[in-house]
Amino acid sequence: MFNFSYHNPVNIIFGKGTICQLAELLPKDGNIMLVYGGGSIKRNGVYDQVIKAAPGRRLIEFSGIEPNPRYETLMRAVEVVKREKINFLLAVGGGSVIDGVKFIAAAALWQGADPWDFMPDHGQAVRAALPLGVVLTLPATGSEMNPNSVVTRESTREKLFFGSPHVMPHFSILDPETTYTLPPRQTANGAIDAFVHVMEQYMTCPAGAPLQDRQAEAVLLTLIEAGPKALEHPNDYDTRASLMWAATQALNGLIGCGVPHDWTTHMIGHEITALYGLDHAVTLAIVLPAVWRHKRQHKAAKLLQYAARVWGIRDGDEDARINAAIEKTEKFFQSLGVATRLKDYDVKNGLGAIAQQCEKHGLPLGEHQDIWRKDVETIIDLCRE
Ligand code: NZQ
Ligand code: ZN
Repeated sequence: MFNFSYHNPVNIIFGKGTICQLAELLPKDGNIMLVYGGGSIKRNGVYDQVIKAAPGRRLIEFSGIEPNPRYETLMRAVEVVKREKINFLLAVGGGSVIDGVKFIAAAALWQGADPWDFMPDHGQAVRAALPLGVVLTLPATGSEMNPNSVVTRESTREKLFFGSPHVMPHFSILDPETTYTLPPRQTANGAIDAFVHVMEQYMTCPAGAPLQDRQAEAVLLTLIEAGPKALEHPNDYDTRASLMWAATQALNGLIGCGVPHDWTTHMIGHEITALYGLDHAVTLAIVLPAVWRHKRQHKAAKLLQYAARVWGIRDGDEDARINAAIEKTEKFFQSLGVATRLKDYDVKNGLGAIAQQCEKHGLPLGEHQDIWRKDVETIIDLCRE
């Protein structure tokens, strides 16, 4: 096991009827910016619950954060923050709203010319940010309990991430009942995103970390159980609660302590979203099996462990078991209604740009740092059909 330090200060408030606790959690003085997306929170009653929980607070609203939040929109919010002297940000929504708020929080206190300048080195230069809190409505990204944010710059078609301890939420309210209204597509996306977050910290090489392995497998098994159930019974509280807590656990840093990581699938996926507009989780469902096929020798020990412990595949030779595990994974994504090849989305032109952009934003990738441009090209080939 590698050395590690782990510090996660986010105050998690979990369960039905917990949004009213904003009354104690929000600062009593000053100006709070309430940030949300395209209006789902107005249709499902979450907005009303938030307003009711904040009597006497000065709330300034900023709405219209789009899925894959855009730098251009977020910079408009930064202007409002400065003008209105905002000193606390409240994100109400999914990963895009939370990530957007993290960017706004850091950008508002950025001393340099353009906050985009802290993106290429992934936020290392961020020294301060406004405090923020979260009301989560979509289990997927883990953003409610991690220091990361992913922002898209429309003008250059770049999707980059930054991470900073300064943008850790002070609190996150997770009420599973807010997720009853998710469209099936978003429920499926969330389960797949969380599943792949686990994989990026698990499907590498053995590292003498049996606890982390079993924690990761527990999250995978829970997602495999709860994902399809949530589609079938959208108002089943315990299923929604399992999904929500599993997605948080998938990317709050815990299962990734002391083990190698391989974020190749996410890095390639971000470029596909930036270039072709596919949903984040869709890109992951396409790229993950291709990464495994390309790196099956390096990942063989963990693929075999995964096959046995998660899917119960114990018969046959090693090759057959690995093939069966990859197939089971793809079938799981497909059972949630997500197709796993680029051709299913009519993406076929200009594919060379994906590897080119990966190179621009930082290669090599992989737990052995051995995935270069030609490897990305091979992986994209395996994604085609
Ligand atoms: O905008 P509104 O109207 O709120 O609608 C949203 C949006 O259209 C809707 N929605 C959210 N909660 C709902 C709801 N509809 C009905 N009922 C509800 N309760 O769902 C749509 C998608 O929302 P979005 O926030 O975009 O989804 P998600 O949470 O999957 O976030 C995706 C973004 O997070 C980034 C992705 O790259 C992408 O930009 N990621 C962030 C990470 C992080 N911060 O750690 C890690 C991830 O790997 C990921 O990259
Ligand atoms: Zn993700």
